[in-house]
Amino acid sequence: MSNSVLITGGAGFIGSNFVHHWCSKYDTRVVVLDILGYAGNESSLADLKDQDGFQLVKGDICDRELVTSLLAKEEISTVIHFAAESHVDRSILGPAAFVQTNVVGTFTLLEAFRQHWQNQGKPEDYRFLHVSTDEVYGSLEADDPAFTETTPYAPNSPYSASKAGSDHLARAYFHTYGMPTLITNCSNNYGPYQFPEKLIPLMCLNILLGKPLPVYGDGQNVRDWLHVSDHCSAIDTVLHKANPGDVYNIGGNNQVKNLDIVHQLCDLMSELAAGSSVNLPTSPRDLITFVTDRPGHDRRYAMDISKIEKDLGWTPAYNFETGLRQTVEWYLSNRDWWQPLLSAEYKGYYENLYGDR
Ligand code: NAD
Ligand code: TYD
Repeated sequence: MSNSVLITGGAGFIGSNFVHHWCSKYDTRVVVLDILGYAGNESSLADLKDQDGFQLVKGDICDRELVTSLLAKEEISTVIHFAAESHVDRSILGPAAFVQTNVVGTFTLLEAFRQHWQNQGKPEDYRFLHVSTDEVYGSLEADDPAFTETTPYAPNSPYSASKAGSDHLARAYFHTYGMPTLITNCSNNYGPYQFPEKLIPLMCLNILLGKPLPVYGDGQNVRDWLHVSDHCSAIDTVLHKANPGDVYNIGGNNQVKNLDIVHQLCDLMSELAAGSSVNLPTSPRDLITFVTDRPGHDRRYAMDISKIEKDLGWTPAYNFETGLRQTVEWYLSNRDWWQPLLSAEYKGYYENLYGDR
């Protein structure tokens, strides 16, 4: 039997890192389904383009006919589902796309996979791994214990609400139909190939371009940062070791305040620029600008990862300082990747989202 893998959203930030992780480790056939929207970037997969056993299909996860035919034609036994609208700020400005892709799109994939799995006689080794976020659990106060897999869902943004809806559907397909779904809820990722609308790459590029560094509110919000390579290894571990129906939290045991990250990035960029041909237009810390807070801004996220550590033996490998340095170096030496994202086509996508609100 074939065991091809369908990776949705494989041209996005985490998806493309995962495709690289997978292709360097396994020789199973990989099909990527991605709409190649603003965050989906073919160039993130350019090195794999001509590789045997790899195919990139441009298409929408909401297109039932396309998904159904891909599952059958490509003899897919495993779906790893990353495709989503992923940016909280955009979800505040335009929630409809989030409900469509994250809820309706996930439902479409689940239904198509259920039919495919049933048509094949419900093989035991089939899997549907749904990639989700810690944001479904809501917001923590400074002294609250970290989120566990049994923390009640309390999403606060249209993004997290739409992810919560998709998690519930993935869970229901296991409980109702016995379909072998797995759910992972992960904390904030950083690393190469992240679209420069998210905190870390946005700050790096703005420092390089001498633009203001917009810190929302008082900058004291806390996120639990994980290097994207660690997220990829965790998903791989869950896929191969967890039981159908399982849910695992993934995180970095690494809670950092936004303003501290911005300071670290300013200092790192100054240090790395000093030792290279890069000229920074302005002293980075002078660019820090406190701006109006994000509406409904979650104060703190933190993941309790003891379940995945105990059950599956996974633990994060990256240290934040090293990971951040490696990430900044990647943006400094991969201008060809991000420069096109600053073109007129993208203006307004990543810039000043909050300037005129
Ligand atoms: P991203 O925005 O960089 O990538 C999303 C990808 O999905 C893009 O390539 C996009 O083109 C594609 N896509 C969007 N709509 C689509 C559609 N209708 N059909 C097909 N493809 C579509 O996001 P990311 O940061 O890589 O996140 C990937 C997944 O991981 C998401 O499900 C997200 O909720 C989850 N997640 C992200 C983080 C994080 O810190 N970035 C943390 C935890 C979980
Ligand atoms: P982000 O990268 O958008 O991830 P998420 O909202 O999913 O956690 O933001 C990370 C944190 O950084 C969040 O608390 C919002 C804050 N932030 C800023 O202060 N300024 C910015 O320009 C951005 C994009 C985010």
